[in-house]
Amino acid sequence: MAKTVRIDSINEETSVQTNDNLLSLLLTKELKVLQECGGRGICATCHIYIKDGMEQLSPMSRREQRTLEVITTCKMNSRLACQARVIGDGVVVDLPGGMYISEVEDIESLIGQRATQDILHPLYGTVLVETGKLITRSMISQLQQTRGEVSEVLSRAGNT
Ligand code: FES
Repeated sequence: MAKTVRIDSINEETSVQTNDNLLSLLLTKELKVLQECGGRGICATCHIYIKDGMEQLSPMSRREQRTLEVITTCKMNSRLACQARVIGDGVVVDLPGGMYISEVEDIESLIGQRATQDILHPLYGTVLVETGKLITRSMISQLQQTRGEVSEVLSRAGNT
């Protein structure tokens, strides 16, 4: 049976099949969700806020709890979209602002530009470059290093 979910950031109410996760819903709405870890519950890139209806979602697993604990923008109403399944009506979802560093294809092209939005760490949600800041070459090498560390962490997690 279908359940209704509201996505606040695009001001849209929609329906999902009972037990579907919120990630698949966000993707059908063509919302930008990176799912860096491929839906395994170990990154920050599908982090969302539940503005209402938390009790209408599946309970949190230990893995989801552990991941949320390290996401710096985590709040009481945080969930990982890939882990939260819809079991009742009335869930209201909001997406955190900012973009993840892994979204930038040609990272070097950012040198000399100002960040148009916060650039975030894909595992911790930490702000790596604040909106409006001028992006320097040294920042870029740090960002590149971060990218390398992230892929290492994710591939290690994939082998466990
Ligand atoms: S896609 Fe990585 S935690 Fe959900």
